[in-house]
Amino acid sequence: MNIVIFGGPGSGKGTQSEKMIERYGLNHISTGQVLRDHIARRTELGVIADQYISKGQLIPDDLIVELLADIFKNNAEILEKGVILDGFPRTIPQAVALEELLKTLNTEIHHVVGLEVDDEELVNRMILRGKTSGRADDNIETIRKRLDVYHNQTTPLKDFYIENGKYRRINGNGAIDNIFSEICTFLDK
Ligand code: AP5
Ligand code: MG
Repeated sequence: MNIVIFGGPGSGKGTQSEKMIERYGLNHISTGQVLRDHIARRTELGVIADQYISKGQLIPDDLIVELLADIFKNNAEILEKGVILDGFPRTIPQAVALEELLKTLNTEIHHVVGLEVDDEELVNRMILRGKTSGRADDNIETIRKRLDVYHNQTTPLKDFYIENGKYRRINGNGAIDNIFSEICTFLDK
């Protein structure tokens, strides 16, 4: 089972992924986390990524698609158990590239779990997290930019996945465990 966990910044993709990993034994790729690791290690990609992430902008599609393709190429076992993709795809070209990539690996995305959360709640969560996260993008100015980018560049993907029948809306407001129950009710089927 390969799953995309989809939602705005601060919608709980990482939080719910952790719980899904525990319950379903899936692998997890958070592109944001992979990029932050590159930034911490000051790799060539990290230096480039830092310029975009700190401004709340998306990394160019070709760079992020190449990054993901490399991860699959170097870790063939990831797709054997199934994977949760967290933060990827974020644009239509990324989603198309992902379909092509998975096709060459004889698999596909089976479900898209869409965490739908009000903007005000997203802002509150990220401001709260910003007090301790040390993340360069958890400040109010960058949070606003990330929300704009999400609405303009990423939400068109929702229709893409609704049209191919893979999108499942999950109410991402409320308590973490209630949200997780709703996800499980869907995935257990
Ligand atoms: P990424 O790391 O993916 O960040 P994001 O999408 O902005 O999302 P977050 O990680 O901030 O939130 P989340 O949804 O994981 O929520 P979490 O569980 O942490 O991307 C960062 C950047 O990298 C991008 O802006 C871009 O520059 C770049 N990038 C990454 N992927 C890319 C791609 N594919 N293409 C181009 N660029 C890319 O929860 C948030 C907080 O809320 C936590 O403190 C948590 O404890 C709390 N919380 C969670 N659930 C609840 C709840 N139900 N109630 C109350 N609090 C809750
Ligand atoms: Mg996250």
